[in-house]
Amino acid sequence: MDFFNYSGTELHAENVSLAAIAEQFGTPTYVYSRATFERHYNAYANAFASHPTLICYAVKACSNIAILNVLAKLGSGFDIVSGGELERVLRAGGDPAKVMFSGLGKQEAEMARALEVGIHCFNVESEAELYRLDKVAGEMGKKAPVSLRVNPDVDAKTHPYISTGLKENKFGIDILDAVRIYEVANSLPNLDVMGVDCHIGSQLTELQPFLDTFDRLIGLIDQLAEKGIKIKHMDLGGGLGVRYRDEVPPEPGEYAQLILEKVKGRDIMLAFEPGRSIAANAGVLLTKVEFLKCTAHKNFAIIDGAMNDLIRPSLYGAWMNIIPVSLQPTGEGSRVYDLVGPVCETGDFLGKERELDITAGSLLAVRSAGAYGFTMSSNYNSRNRAAEVMVDGDVAHEIRARETIDHQLAGESLLPA
Ligand code: LLP
Repeated sequence: MDFFNYSGTELHAENVSLAAIAEQFGTPTYVYSRATFERHYNAYANAFASHPTLICYAVKACSNIAILNVLAKLGSGFDIVSGGELERVLRAGGDPAKVMFSGLGKQEAEMARALEVGIHCFNVESEAELYRLDKVAGEMGKKAPVSLRVNPDVDAKTHPYISTGLKENKFGIDILDAVRIYEVANSLPNLDVMGVDCHIGSQLTELQPFLDTFDRLIGLIDQLAEKGIKIKHMDLGGGLGVRYRDEVPPEPGEYAQLILEKVKGRDIMLAFEPGRSIAANAGVLLTKVEFLKCTAHKNFAIIDGAMNDLIRPSLYGAWMNIIPVSLQPTGEGSRVYDLVGPVCETGDFLGKERELDITAGSLLAVRSAGAYGFTMSSNYNSRNRAAEVMVDGDVAHEIRARETIDHQLAGESLLPA
């Protein structure tokens, strides 16, 4: 459920019409709904309320500090994968004690900063990383809280680029090797073994892979207990899918019910790192038709949003729903269009073969663009990145100004004469 709906013939984000947002802030613009973010976060928080659980929103999905601030106010923790994401969380008023630091290439300075502010836990992905973290913590006279991210070899049955829990993926530590590496972690003087972590993939539309993962992790936790290593939390990562087209992903409530049943009677905190299921349907990319170009072979609508703004269709062949901001007939009639951007690549499209009644100047909304939309955008073709606007009830707030060429060039310089 989200708060992007037609009121009469006009698409609104909460109580604000998208046409008014385009008028005020221009296009392309990412438009988010605060109420939708809150609803999606609360779906997790309420579903797991009966058990000690930390919901750590995956910052990479959509990282604007206004959004992190809205979630922090609800009590959210954060899953981060870089020093940059940590600084965002801190600027947004997030609680470092609720931060999980994931990612397989953590640098010494990133580790040191996370130790300085006191994060909840490092999700360590290799033996080499354990030694580095032990060294950094030792130099600071601190103990680093660690989980090992284990790779449970479970097939998430999702797109190969976003499947992460198979033996052949670069992520995590093979579960068959995990006991040995936990023993190493336990023996290092500046580490404090806290938990077990995993993340098997993204856009999962079935619960069974999560349940299989849970069983494998519990098996590991029991093996560790026999060796005297007590695990305090189990982090099941993110991965719950959303509806882009006709998928029917499980709700957080269904997920919670099955996991809570399994964890009953165990003294262990749960943690989750949802990104997409909180952010995707809380945002749209608002874009305008520049020109129609109808040829003997194809009809193209050339729009002002492009692959640099939203790369999911180009990169993964992802299908994203594209709907008109106004349902009023344009006089042009309906045709089947490929919706393409101005970037000089054949792969620059946001949608193909979409039947729409549009004309030059028509506004379109790409739905479900809140996750991995703006955060994956770039300056390719020296295009300024889009503005970001958050609607809160009756008001639209600009939470990131549209980039200018001065922003783009700020760090560049000519060679000396
Ligand atoms: N935790 C870790 C360690 C992750 O690597 C990820 C996502 C998440 C949590 C959040 O997963 P989610 O709940 O969003 O599925 N760019 C791709 C998705 C890449 C996901 C990367 N990791 C896309 O646009 O589909």
